Amino acid sequence: MATSKEYGLGTFDFPRGWFMVAVSSKVGNTPLAVRFFGQDFALYRGKSGRVVLLDAYCPHMGTHLARNTTSYVAQDGAVEDDCIRCPYHAWRFGPDGKCNEIPYGSGPIPPAAKVKSWTVQEHLGAVFVWHDPEGGEPDYELANIPEFDDPSWAIGEYDDLGIVNCHTQEIMDNITDVAHFGPVHGSLTKYFENEFKDHVVTQRMGGGHRTLVTEGGAMLETEAVYTGPSLLITKMLGMHESYIIIAHTPVDDGSAYVWHNLMVKSPTGAAVATDADREGARQYQAMALAAFAQDFEVWKHKKPCLKGLFVQGDGPFNKQREWYRQFYNPRAQRAELLKNVNGVYVAKGMRGKQAVVGTPSATADA
Ligand code: FES
Ligand SMILES: [Fe+2]
Repeated sequence: MATSKEYGLGTFDFPRGWFMVAVSSKVGNTPLAVRFFGQDFALYRGKSGRVVLLDAYCPHMGTHLARNTTSYVAQDGAVEDDCIRCPYHAWRFGPDGKCNEIPYGSGPIPPAAKVKSWTVQEHLGAVFVWHDPEGGEPDYELANIPEFDDPSWAIGEYDDLGIVNCHTQEIMDNITDVAHFGPVHGSLTKYFENEFKDHVVTQRMGGGHRTLVTEGGAMLETEAVYTGPSLLITKMLGMHESYIIIAHTPVDDGSAYVWHNLMVKSPTGAAVATDADREGARQYQAMALAAFAQDFEVWKHKKPCLKGLFVQGDGPFNKQREWYRQFYNPRAQRAELLKNVNGVYVAKGMRGKQAVVGTPSATADA
């Protein structure tokens, strides 16, 4: 496990961006203790349905707002309306993080009686937080999947993969890693390219696949898109039209929490996905997860790649690592950091998408 500084990522230990912090269905009126970006938080759903993420520690005497089950505050339900009560002396905090009741004494509520309330958004069945070391407003929108609300698609449950003790840089490397697809996943890659454009990086790949088998040997084509440093949405055309959702969020500097999900269009063309469609989708998700687990096993046991010994034929790792730095440095430096990054890259000895299927994309050597 190595830190962001050791990877030379830049000024900040944790990146700017939207980050998944929970599966929506897991967030209820009982507060959850969660940890990301080297900090502890209390996460809960207010009675109105609103999701609230607060810094965990009460300003009164430092009690964790969500790590208690025995106090009568917790037993009676710490969440009131959209507020939460501290389990120690029952100070109550609003969804804005400000203390709005001290249930004893007669003095005024001190202005310092507050915790930070974070900007959150529910999206794609998950809760995302905006994290910005500079304290700025979101500067991009979370990527959407329009079919997520289409009843003819079977939407999976998130696989909670827990914490992996490797830096997110190692996970990010995967987007450019053309040379691992054969050895790890059994892919027979026919084309592979990466495109970097501001806060978005795309991987386009086509070929055969030993794990995700295609019917009649049809080419499995994928387009994997990171919008920002955390949320990866892969559109797959192969056995079924589907999307894979992968999200990873730094926990401490050098570890990450990872989720995985998959959604499939009803193969029978049903207007509303049937039980059989859902069962088929579950099986397909398990296969996709098995493919992801192949990467995971490597990440779990490898030592940090602080500076790779990259050779001709490797994907554009250095471009991707430069691209990733935009999230670890002040916004003011972004244009400078991206100056030599934006563009389409094809590794030596590999073909770009245009050369194989004829769709246009300008290419340059990696
Ligand atoms: S420590 Fe939270 S109310 Fe006293
Ligand atoms: Fe992989």
